[in-house]
Amino acid sequence: MNGIDIPSLCYHSDLKTKASCRLCLVSIKGQKGLQTACSTFVTPEMDILTESPEINQTRKTNLELIFAHYKKSLGSWDLNPELLRLAKKYQIDAQRFSDRKKHFPKYQFGPAISFDTSKCIDCRNCVEVCHQQAVDFFEVKEKENFFQVTPSQDKKVDCIYCGQCVVHCPVAALSAKADFDQVEKALKQKGNKVIFQFAPSIRTSIGEEFNLPYGEVVTEKIVGAIKALGAYKVFDTSVGADFTSTEEAKELIEKIEANQGACLSSCCSAWVKYVEFFYPEFVHCLATTRSPQAILGGLIKTYFAKKDKVNPKKIVVVSIMPCTAKKYEINRKELQINGMKPVDYVLTTREFAYLLRKRSIDLRCVKPMKADDPLGLPTGGGVIYGASGGVAESALRSAYLMMTKNNLPKIEFTEVRGMRGVKKTVINMGGRQIKMAVINGIGNAKAILEEMKKDPKAYDAVEVMACPGGCVGGGGQPVPTDGEIRSKRAAGLYEIDAKKEERIAHLNPVVKEVYRDYLTDEKIIKKICHTVYQAKKRENNFKNL
Ligand code: SF4
Ligand code: SF4
Ligand code: FES
Repeated sequence: MNGIDIPSLCYHSDLKTKASCRLCLVSIKGQKGLQTACSTFVTPEMDILTESPEINQTRKTNLELIFAHYKKSLGSWDLNPELLRLAKKYQIDAQRFSDRKKHFPKYQFGPAISFDTSKCIDCRNCVEVCHQQAVDFFEVKEKENFFQVTPSQDKKVDCIYCGQCVVHCPVAALSAKADFDQVEKALKQKGNKVIFQFAPSIRTSIGEEFNLPYGEVVTEKIVGAIKALGAYKVFDTSVGADFTSTEEAKELIEKIEANQGACLSSCCSAWVKYVEFFYPEFVHCLATTRSPQAILGGLIKTYFAKKDKVNPKKIVVVSIMPCTAKKYEINRKELQINGMKPVDYVLTTREFAYLLRKRSIDLRCVKPMKADDPLGLPTGGGVIYGASGGVAESALRSAYLMMTKNNLPKIEFTEVRGMRGVKKTVINMGGRQIKMAVINGIGNAKAILEEMKKDPKAYDAVEVMACPGGCVGGGGQPVPTDGEIRSKRAAGLYEIDAKKEERIAHLNPVVKEVYRDYLTDEKIIKKICHTVYQAKKRENNFKNL
């Protein structure tokens, strides 16, 4: 805060201080030895020395110890930029120590997460964050004088692919399973029509990968950069979100009118997996409406393919998502349409940024471009999906209008915004009191679900986003990601919404046109916009690589 550079790697403001990397060492007058700054409270009159030959040498040695396990991955895509900055600053000798962990195993969790335990520095941020997510997928064992973090053997536990362990790992021992190679291949393949869509939240986060300020809106730069990669078309997942809101609003109204109890949001794939595995008794409460990327992908391969006279088999849909769980979602068989996956590949925000850098495309310098017609023009309601409360707010705007036929008294449902873990409110909709809960971070869902077990009518609508802050804090987002950064990314989305001419999802002219020309009866709406869920057993979802 005062412009004094004290390096830190394992410290994360979301988590308890563990002081394990020992890079933040400082000297305090009157105290013996060096102290870790992250675990030392400052007191008045404390005399702190942050740089000295001894401090710098110790930091350098500790970095060299970290690099003993890390050096072989120096060429890999998912490096923590801070680690590299420090290596340069302290002019480390990466070869100084031998790698005693090199034979430690690598794992892959489903189609979403890679875990190279040989890179682990034993800070256990992943263990703690996975516990905060109410999953507890990691175990810690002692092996050859090291503590080793491994996936759990307990059959009652399963990874939900939220990726929070990825954004909280300071050395990228955990990372998103990379798919950019396949995307590059698809782009090179003659005859392919590669169509990209990009998620609401990445427009205010990817700039960070190119040294732009937190929360800066770069929507048109993203489109320009994707076009520079050679995409055939670029569409906006926020338009998919407008369809999701339209259908979810209808479901909500049906449930309210039939007095059927809570409608649970279902566009967060990690949350869906959580319900299917940990709370199967609530599967029937999940809205059957598909997620924005799934609806948009389905429309691209059907509605758009027909309109554009393209063979849908030649279309490759690539989604750029803030999310590791979306890599899992696209493999759900229930989502296939005419035997095709609606989305072929998911790249996380970080993978996409890597791909751009690999192709020497600097986001700051690309020519801004507008997304393509017809699926590139979202409402403000579609854009706020990236923040916790955004799904609920957008669906409420539509549901209110559909149910009451009156003008909305206010368009902004600010009571569901913000970074509180649980946001509860009661909305008066045409004389009916709609009880709503918005859960920010899946660790907060348990209490609400337990409440619903006792009283199934406790809520009419519940939004759950697995990641803290919603998708702005997703597992595929740039590092660092912390509370302040998540708030800035969310503020950017609300800023876009406030400036939009149309802010209500089902009033989007594109949405109206597609319902008029293509989604004309319940059968086709069900096929493109809805899905099914079922209780799930633990998948054999991790393997030694
Ligand atoms: S992806 Fe989420 S659930 Fe899976 S191990 Fe990481 S933090 Fe836990
Ligand atoms: S909150 Fe968003 S980023 Fe996180 S798992 Fe859910 S959909 Fe993915
Ligand atoms: S940041 Fe203080 S010990 Fe790692």
